[in-house]
Amino acid sequence: MPSPAAELTPRISAAITAAFGDDYAGSDPVLRPSQFADLQANAALALAKRLGRKPREVAEQIVAQLDVKGVCSSVEVSGPGFLNLTLDPAWISAQAGGTAADPRLGVPTEERQIVPIDYSAPNVAKEMHAGHLRTTVVGDSLARTLEHLGHTVIRQNHIGDWGTPFGMLIEHLLDVGEGSDEARLVEQDPNAFYQAARTKFDGDPEFANRARARVVALQAGDAETLRLWRELVDLSKQYFNRIYSALGVTLTDDDLAGESTYNDQLAAICDELESRGIATMSDGALCVFLDGYTGRENKPVPLIIRKSDGGYGYGTTDLATVKYRVEQLHANRVLYVIGAPQALHLNMVWDTARKAGWLTDDVEVVHVQIGNVLGPDRKMMRTRSGNPLRLMELVDEAKLTAKKVIDEARPDLDEATRAEIAPQIGVGAIKYADLSVAHDTEYVFDLERMLSLTGNTGPYLQYAAARIRSIFRNAGLTADQATTTITIAEPAERALALALLEFGPVLTQVGALLEPHRLCGYLFDLAQAFSAFYESCPVLKADDPAVRDSRLALCALTLRVLVQGLDLLGVQAPERM
Ligand code: ARG
Repeated sequence: MPSPAAELTPRISAAITAAFGDDYAGSDPVLRPSQFADLQANAALALAKRLGRKPREVAEQIVAQLDVKGVCSSVEVSGPGFLNLTLDPAWISAQAGGTAADPRLGVPTEERQIVPIDYSAPNVAKEMHAGHLRTTVVGDSLARTLEHLGHTVIRQNHIGDWGTPFGMLIEHLLDVGEGSDEARLVEQDPNAFYQAARTKFDGDPEFANRARARVVALQAGDAETLRLWRELVDLSKQYFNRIYSALGVTLTDDDLAGESTYNDQLAAICDELESRGIATMSDGALCVFLDGYTGRENKPVPLIIRKSDGGYGYGTTDLATVKYRVEQLHANRVLYVIGAPQALHLNMVWDTARKAGWLTDDVEVVHVQIGNVLGPDRKMMRTRSGNPLRLMELVDEAKLTAKKVIDEARPDLDEATRAEIAPQIGVGAIKYADLSVAHDTEYVFDLERMLSLTGNTGPYLQYAAARIRSIFRNAGLTADQATTTITIAEPAERALALALLEFGPVLTQVGALLEPHRLCGYLFDLAQAFSAFYESCPVLKADDPAVRDSRLALCALTLRVLVQGLDLLGVQAPERM
């Protein structure tokens, strides 16, 4: 089932060729929705310029050649030379019926690509912050969407599980005792554990010495040290997994590919870059200097790949991620869903990998930039007490607030039902709010707005889906029993059906541009089109049984698109609301 634009574009192109010959074949029409017709095509304006003729005349000539029999009921030239295209209701009905009969709801299966997605990536023995929330939620939605479009997605959770802080963390673990309540903080309240270690490190020289010696032992592969390190990583994994499961995120332990995974490749990476003259020694550190990267006073900015103390850094491990994803995973397209401030870092890593021939032009690498999440004061988010935020607390607060909202909105539902759906609403609200703004812009975290039942929010969409489910409960039917032919008569039916036909094109766009907010915007428009339809077109009370069945079929299709769309955002759709 082609969407209207997909159906009409080639027909207009063919008309242009028929009217003006092959030389003008490439002048593709641009189709847009319009307030005067279903679609407006800008096909004649640029063409008229090339031909040196009046745009309206050119438009008339295209119309004379245009074959839209069975697709459009009218085509008119308007304004300076646009084509106003009005679709034939029978065509819309047939397309809506085809979409309803399609298990994929009109979503194409794209040519398969292998797409590693680097997202979430929290750090061991540290709290996840709001920035991690956002890369987790955006990355997960992109993973779901690209998988649905037919690609092989390989989730890569590049957790920070290596580096000098582990010296003090391991020594602190030994001080408090393995298995003690204080050790369990790594899993319960990681910042508290980290801060305790840090305070000792800063204030106690004996501890600091032990910590430094421990780093050396860790890097040398000392077995007992590695065992303690693994214990910290395991405790952190439990913490991450609790957050992932509370958020309904698809990441599992199988997706962990932390910094330490690349340890034994770092020396070879440095050696190769040095021997090929790509990296050079500077002030005792091994550095890559690339054209076009300069800082203050035009000084070249290096990518440091081996520090003067012999340690490797964030840049070296990321070079290893590029090599691994290209050479071992055979990636066609690699997404790095990471904070916007890391753009310079990533570009230097990629340019270095290109210079070394590890990253070739046939592989697309994309930085899906993540913008900041701000508190009400428009500064980085903190808790009320001024402490850095605990993500788990935030999720709990969202669930509690959602419970209050649903208690108030639906006192008629029994307590057990309300308790069951509150977490779905609370978590859905946070995730949806995060996804509905462009991922590279910042936004203010405002639970009240996120949980509002009106506007472009998760709860509004969940409510729209629940409302359709209740129509079917009242009809004593399930949605998949409503498979009658869809007939388009009323304007609101027409608008709803046209919205439904756009699901496939929107998902294609989300996959190409990596912008989940477009799916949110689409689902919001769809829910509004449904609302308008439901207000003006009685469904169960329709006089004519054929009209009732057709409207039920429209309801069923709307429900399926809403639920599928929300699922690709990682948002649940409660049965009742
Ligand atoms: N652990 C890093 C942080 O918390 C994010 C890592 C992102 N991924 C990567 N390949 N660099 O900021």
